[in-house]
Amino acid sequence: MKIDVYFTPLGLNAGDLAGRGVVVIDVLRATSSIVTALSAGAKAIVPAASSEEAVRLTANLEKDGMVLAGERRMIKIEGFGLGNSPREMTREVVGGKTVFLATTNGTPALVAAQGGDPVLVAAALNFSAVAERARAVFAERGDLVIICAGRERQFALEDAYTAGRLIKAVRKGARKVALNDAAQVSLDLAGQHGGWQDAFDTSDAARQLTDVGLGADVAFCAHPDRFTVVPVYADRRITA
Ligand code: MLT
Repeated sequence: MKIDVYFTPLGLNAGDLAGRGVVVIDVLRATSSIVTALSAGAKAIVPAASSEEAVRLTANLEKDGMVLAGERRMIKIEGFGLGNSPREMTREVVGGKTVFLATTNGTPALVAAQGGDPVLVAAALNFSAVAERARAVFAERGDLVIICAGRERQFALEDAYTAGRLIKAVRKGARKVALNDAAQVSLDLAGQHGGWQDAFDTSDAARQLTDVGLGADVAFCAHPDRFTVVPVYADRRITA
């Protein structure tokens, strides 16, 4: 039995994930926004590798059935309907709609995870529900890959912490689980912090979000089990 963690999707080559169970994490903030939007009744989320791709994908679509969302340096992209704050993903705004999402780290990580089966989307907001699903995949396959989005191609503490909590939950009761180095470090990190808020507050991401006036998003994203949705990414769409 084996669990591999990638701190960024950079080390991944096409085919590496073929048929493997995968969990993608970008807890500040892309996967938190995806979980919140689907819990608010969004029909689907389409992750785009770039804002240009998101615009291209929506060019010929009926405007009332979709919404463009995304950020650049954490701020809403000009001309888009929404930024990347989970607090913007309300039933009034995304209910019944398809959200085309373009972010710096999270959506490229999702696109890189294509080929995995299943590809689950994790955050603190849906932690227990997604951990239960990941645990079932692990029990069945004896194998799991956790992809952290990272930040600007670098290690992101909040993602690795979340990965460590997931490893703890998934491997509970299993004997002899081999962990790659990134998985071992994530597990150690999960044992070093007092909880979600404490871990997130220690991160570069939290500092950067607070600096641009989005500190409330950190608190929102650090609230475990607010939702029970388990988003699954398949055929370029994320649905509940
Ligand atoms: C990302 O996907 O790059 C992050 O979620 C950025 C952000 O906080 O908006």
